Amino acid sequence: MQTPQKTLWGGRFSTSLTTETVAFTHSIEADTRLIGYDIWGSQAHAIMLARQGIISDADLREILRWLRKAEEDFQNGDFTLDPNKEDVHMNVESYLIENAGREFGGKLHTARSRNDQVLVDAHLYIRDEILNIQRGLSTLCEAFLQIAKTHTDTVMPGYTHTQHAQPISLGFWATAYISMFLRDQKRLQSAYALVNMNPLGACALAGTTFPIDRELTTKLLGFDAPHEHALDVISSRDFIAETLFALSLVMANLSRISEEIVYWTTYEFGIAVLDDAYSFGSSIMPQKKNPDIAELTRGRTGRVYGALFDLLTNLKGLPMGYNRDFQEDKPPLWEAFDIVKACLGLLPELLKTTDFKTERMAELANANFATATELANHLVKEHKISFRECHEIVGWLVGELVQQEKTFSDWELTQELLREKAIDIPISQLKQILDAELAIQNNQSLGGTSPPEVHRMIENFEKQRNEITQHIYHCQTQIEDAHRETLRIVDEVLGKPTVPTEGAEN
Ligand code: ARG
Repeated sequence: MQTPQKTLWGGRFSTSLTTETVAFTHSIEADTRLIGYDIWGSQAHAIMLARQGIISDADLREILRWLRKAEEDFQNGDFTLDPNKEDVHMNVESYLIENAGREFGGKLHTARSRNDQVLVDAHLYIRDEILNIQRGLSTLCEAFLQIAKTHTDTVMPGYTHTQHAQPISLGFWATAYISMFLRDQKRLQSAYALVNMNPLGACALAGTTFPIDRELTTKLLGFDAPHEHALDVISSRDFIAETLFALSLVMANLSRISEEIVYWTTYEFGIAVLDDAYSFGSSIMPQKKNPDIAELTRGRTGRVYGALFDLLTNLKGLPMGYNRDFQEDKPPLWEAFDIVKACLGLLPELLKTTDFKTERMAELANANFATATELANHLVKEHKISFRECHEIVGWLVGELVQQEKTFSDWELTQELLREKAIDIPISQLKQILDAELAIQNNQSLGGTSPPEVHRMIENFEKQRNEITQHIYHCQTQIEDAHRETLRIVDEVLGKPTVPTEGAEN
């Protein structure tokens, strides 16, 4: 790092910052992701200043020319962010001043503050990342849909307390995750709506005496509307909290599926086998096949929660206005995005390639009294006994069978024990009542596990998934159209970059 020089805000100061002060305060690592957004924000701001007659057309030309060059130089590695210049905003402005001179470059920051500028960059970046996460979730839902469609009739035990509860289908299990992840999509969509508001023009905290046009920058940056109240804009980070909360729930849900993958692939459960491409071995135990991806997903969940708690803790003591504490909002949020994207990048393929052991699932579903409720229900319907009484009878029956180390499938014994309670059911009928596959067929209540219900829900979820795809497409188009329009104006002001005509840039 070079020795600190005088900063752009250094007018009132008599000495430069110490090297240690610079090292302590700069935000270059986090800001590097923002440079493209910072330049877009500056282009929109400069265009607006010129349209409003706040700067001249000549000023605009020089500013846009060097902003474009800054972006090119950044892309090809000739412009890197310097920690001595504190953050991305000061780096870009310094680049402009160094190249265009203060008489031009020095005008870009008219009617703007880094306080609204940093918010513009964050809003633009978060907006893109939310859409990326939504795409990942959509792919994940697709993987679950594939499992659901193949397995509407595949019987497995459903669990409560991690104990066999009632038979369900594997397709029913898969659609539960789709239902859950579609809610995450809605939460992200609602965070997106908060994010897609324009902070530019709030300036330092109080607005400005210049006749700025906030509607124009809103349009050029593809935002839905200006976030109006200047002091609220500058003080607000709740759009980040909303985003992190949505990401935290995505991770909670990814961690839950991961947990199931971990124990479904145990020898004891033995109901799923991961593809080798998604499994890990041991350096000492040659037989090992470990579900590391699921474990790492589960293990990284806390870091995303940590980002949320970091931000909430940061916010709670801050007075209205900009506080430098806000700078700390970015690194954990970036990490949260990276973690969620990485997990979503792997889990869909891991799920699609998982071998579900359907025979083992059926065996488990029939082995451990999972259909006891069906027998109780049968007694209610056919023997006109109250449910509580039926529960008592079947509970007693299970207790007797367990004591004798038998199951329902010891049909003679089951029949005999029921007769002790004055209930006579032919064995052929008992077999039907206690059959796990028939049990799932018969759970036809709305949202239940029966195959027709699961098919209906699949259709419904597919429809919702398509609507979300449309929404993502709509948002992406709005962003791209706005960026294209900004660049069109840049080209119009500068002349086409590909055909340099003499004097066009002067
Ligand atoms: N780098 C700062 C941040 O990330 C933005 C700059 C605002 N700084 C200031 N001194 N007003 O929050």
